[in-house]
Amino acid sequence: MANILLTGGTGYIGAHTAVVLIESGHTPILLDNFSNSTPKVAERIQVITGVKPMVIEQDVLDTAALVDVLNTHDIQAVIHFAAHKAVGESVEKPLSYYQNNVMGTLSVLAAMAQAGVHHIVLSSSATVYGENGVPPMSEDAPLSATNPYGQTKVMMEQIIRDVAVADKTLRYAMLRYFNPVGAHPSGQIGEHPRGIPNNLMPYVQQVAIGLREKLSVFGNDYPTADGTGERDYIHVMDLARGHVLAVNHLLAGNDSFTVNLGTGKPVTVLQMVQAFEQASGKPIAYTIAPRRAGDVASVYANPQLARQLLGFETEYTISDMCRDAWVWQSRNPNGYDEA
Ligand code: WQD
Repeated sequence: MANILLTGGTGYIGAHTAVVLIESGHTPILLDNFSNSTPKVAERIQVITGVKPMVIEQDVLDTAALVDVLNTHDIQAVIHFAAHKAVGESVEKPLSYYQNNVMGTLSVLAAMAQAGVHHIVLSSSATVYGENGVPPMSEDAPLSATNPYGQTKVMMEQIIRDVAVADKTLRYAMLRYFNPVGAHPSGQIGEHPRGIPNNLMPYVQQVAIGLREKLSVFGNDYPTADGTGERDYIHVMDLARGHVLAVNHLLAGNDSFTVNLGTGKPVTVLQMVQAFEQASGKPIAYTIAPRRAGDVASVYANPQLARQLLGFETEYTISDMCRDAWVWQSRNPNGYDEA
């Protein structure tokens, strides 16, 4: 099997992907600057798998240091998670987002070229379909963005496609996540956003443990089943397995590809809140608030291409997502910091 470098590897998706990589016989190496994560996750991964992955504290912008890591650890493929990902924050700090996300990707690609590493998996996002997409979203839909975060993802994809045209030895997998939620069923690892959560599920989780008073539901006048926004929520363990299928597909010598990673099944805010209340046994207080700028009514995937190319099928249900999110949150009210 192979040594795989995970940039941003101690983050939410990276840590769950590391678990599935280890269980698949690969050796993940987690490189991170800990700007939105902690190296403590390595001990938790060891509790789950029996293997403590190597963690390297490093910023992806240091290209020379990246070359050294790629060579020293005989890396066969890079999974590039490292990126800032808060839509609202990106509007306030565009320079930070373009520097970290776009320049970070340029640095990773330059280091890979110097070190002779030819396989990259990019953590992309359904946000590249912009506000004009008509669901279910297919991979050939036009790309656009209405905020700097989304723009960085569109640019990161374009940069990789252009480099792969010039350098025929580069093979890429672009993975467009829909809405990752949940946690490893063990409750050992999960999502712990810093500050006030931007996303629905971490916020709901924090209401359930009493950290937040109530949820603001951003609009209930959308053309959906109950008027609240609908999204394609995917269990983080399904998402992690999608990454391993993708990297294995590349390592087997297949061509570059871009796929959605989603269930194809839209769920509204209130349906998710109800599912969480059933899974946790905790009432979730909420108020109806005005729509959030930039939100659209409905975003969900056409998941067929990942099924055809990778044999990828999501296995976890909304109830599983809520159950596992609750187990993580209730056992780790302070995230990875000791209670
Ligand atoms: C989901 C639904 C909100 C919070 C974003 C990024 C995407 C990806 C996932 C990084 C919407 C509603 C939310 C709240 C609410 N991020 N909501 N009250 O906006 O679909 O996607 O996060 O990769 O790129 O765009 O996710 O969880 O913020 O919102 O009512 O307090 O929940 O209106 O309908 P979103 P979200």
